[in-house]
Amino acid sequence: MDHQQILFAALSLLTILKLSFAADTLSADQSLADGDILISPNQKYELGFFSPGSSTSRFLGIWYKATPDVVVWVANRENPINGSQGVLALAKNGNLNLSSAQSRIIWSSNSSGAGSSPVLQLLDTGNLVVVEDSMNIWQSFDDPGDTRLPGMKIVGDPETGESKYLTSWKSADDPSMGEFSYLIENHGLSQTIIVKGKEKVNRVVFWNGNFVGYPSSTDPAWKVEVVTNRGRLVSVRQPFYDSVNARLTMNYSGSLQRYVMNEKKDGWILMIALPHDLCDNYGLCGSNGVCKVYKNPACECLRGFQPKSETEWSVFDWRGGCYRNLSLNCQNEEGFLEVKGIKFPDSLNFRLNTSMTIEECHDECFNNCNCTAYADPYFNNGSSCMMWFGDLIDIREYTTESGPAPSIFVRVPNSELDQNQNQKTRPSRTKIIIIAAASVLGMLILGLSLWGVFLRIRRNRQGDITDPFHE
Ligand SMILES: *[C@@H]1O[C@H](CO)[C@@H](O)[C@H](O)[C@H]1NC(C)=O
Ligand SMILES: *[C@@H]1O[C@H](CO)[C@@H](O)[C@H](O)[C@H]1NC(C)=O
Ligand SMILES: *[C@@H]1O[C@H](CO)[C@@H](O)[C@H](O)[C@H]1NC(C)=O
Ligand SMILES: *[C@@H]1O[C@H](CO)[C@@H](O)[C@H](O)[C@H]1NC(C)=O
Ligand SMILES: *[C@@H]1O[C@H](CO)[C@@H](O)[C@H](O)[C@H]1NC(C)=O
Ligand SMILES: *[C@@H]1O[C@H](CO)[C@@H](O)[C@H](O)[C@H]1NC(C)=O
Ligand SMILES: *[C@@H]1O[C@H](CO)[C@@H](O)[C@H](O)[C@H]1NC(C)=O
Ligand SMILES: *[C@@H]1O[C@H](CO)[C@@H](O)[C@H](O)[C@H]1NC(C)=O
Repeated sequence: MDHQQILFAALSLLTILKLSFAADTLSADQSLADGDILISPNQKYELGFFSPGSSTSRFLGIWYKATPDVVVWVANRENPINGSQGVLALAKNGNLNLSSAQSRIIWSSNSSGAGSSPVLQLLDTGNLVVVEDSMNIWQSFDDPGDTRLPGMKIVGDPETGESKYLTSWKSADDPSMGEFSYLIENHGLSQTIIVKGKEKVNRVVFWNGNFVGYPSSTDPAWKVEVVTNRGRLVSVRQPFYDSVNARLTMNYSGSLQRYVMNEKKDGWILMIALPHDLCDNYGLCGSNGVCKVYKNPACECLRGFQPKSETEWSVFDWRGGCYRNLSLNCQNEEGFLEVKGIKFPDSLNFRLNTSMTIEECHDECFNNCNCTAYADPYFNNGSSCMMWFGDLIDIREYTTESGPAPSIFVRVPNSELDQNQNQKTRPSRTKIIIIAAASVLGMLILGLSLWGVFLRIRRNRQGDITDPFHE
């Protein structure tokens, strides 16, 4: 062999080495260069360097092997690498460093363990972990990007302050932090929401022991596991099954999208996207307005209210909302109008008490001149009370597929009530007798509904909670 041949042989060997670097682990002092990949043992996920869309910048990320254009996690979202000099290295102390030419540190995991032979591993779930003595000292699932994979949690814990949520990319070409986030909000009733910057743009579902607002399904791909604390939703995740390929993505367009992989496993099917219809847009009908998707125009004022500006309203600008056309005098001439099958107004100015009967709730609201509406947010579990003060925001009528929907009781003058609506006057003797009879009936109903709650709890224990946005 002459020099040229030796050089050629060496070069091709190098190429082979480079191309064949496709393991599922990386040990301390090893590194992953641009062009190398880590593959999960089930061959589903790959970790490596990529350029999104039409961008020429390089990013370290995880994608589906079958659909490399669908990237589920990016390390250096905010710090693109210019050339193909990127190198990921695992230090002996368990820290991951991503560096570019001139060894400039682009991104670091800031993780460190006891310093005994850590290993970087891409798991079957798509979770990238640094393991030391069979303990995860760092994982990519703790640092969500725009995609929630099965096994990965969204967290909103008001007690510990822990918060993990999805944030959209800026665009198809730019994985840096975009405008939209999907998160758990625990101000009042637990709910999941989409925000644009700081502005709420969509309340997705609310939690009262079940997810309310969207149809449930028995499909295992739609099952979720939740963690709650004193009735509040703390975290949500979809359990991982090797057979289920699903993802929830907060798209840069502002749409929260749930995808499932197709049968041929070479593409994705969009199952549902939010906002789903006009009425999903937060506060579309303004204060005290109700959105009805099948109506044209979609916005109406609650009964007893009228548009603040008829001119704006007539050109479909509803944001100004509605006001009471008969101001309440807080005497006896008022009652509550039941508005059925709606999305609860947002918890802006509210009081929530989980040890009050619906009758106590009614009385308390009635006796507080500022209370504009009340409801049982836990659907007749017999002991919870939500009261709203001031304007009622973001009410929509639910469609029949949305599953069981709550009622609220809105304070209106008696003149707005039907004859048979509950009008609050001072209780008379006959009323007391009726109340006594009603309480016996109430006990019976309570017994029956407790049985219902018991059945529901049993069902939930069996992991039967489903929701399209929590897969
Ligand atoms: C990449 O190039 C752009 C412009 O060419 C420059 O502003 C930026 O600092 C460079 N980034 C790195 C990491 O070198
Ligand atoms: C990673 O970066 C940290 C901080 O810049 C540095 O102390 C450490 O030596 C680096 N490790 C490797 C393997 O480059
Ligand atoms: C690591 O620490 C640096 C400096 O404190 C910080 O800027 C960076 O965001 C941290 N990286 C991660 C992944 O948390
Ligand atoms: C009703 O639901 C609330 C919130 O989950 C809970 O605190 C309360 O104990 C429940 N009451 C009954 C009777 O189940
Ligand atoms: C974002 O939405 C657009 C339009 O629906 C779609 O083409 C694109 O694939 C989505 N991006 C992701 C990462 O799912
Ligand atoms: C209040 O509005 C209702 C319709 O919502 C209307 O029937 C009623 O006449 C109005 N009352 C006043 C005093 O404007
Ligand atoms: C809830 O209501 C009950 C009964 O009216 C009352 O004793 C309790 O103090 C209330 N709790 C809160 C937190 O307001
Ligand atoms: C009702 O609201 C007004 C103005 O915010 C306040 O001054 C008043 O004390 C409130 N009344 C009650 C019973 O809370």
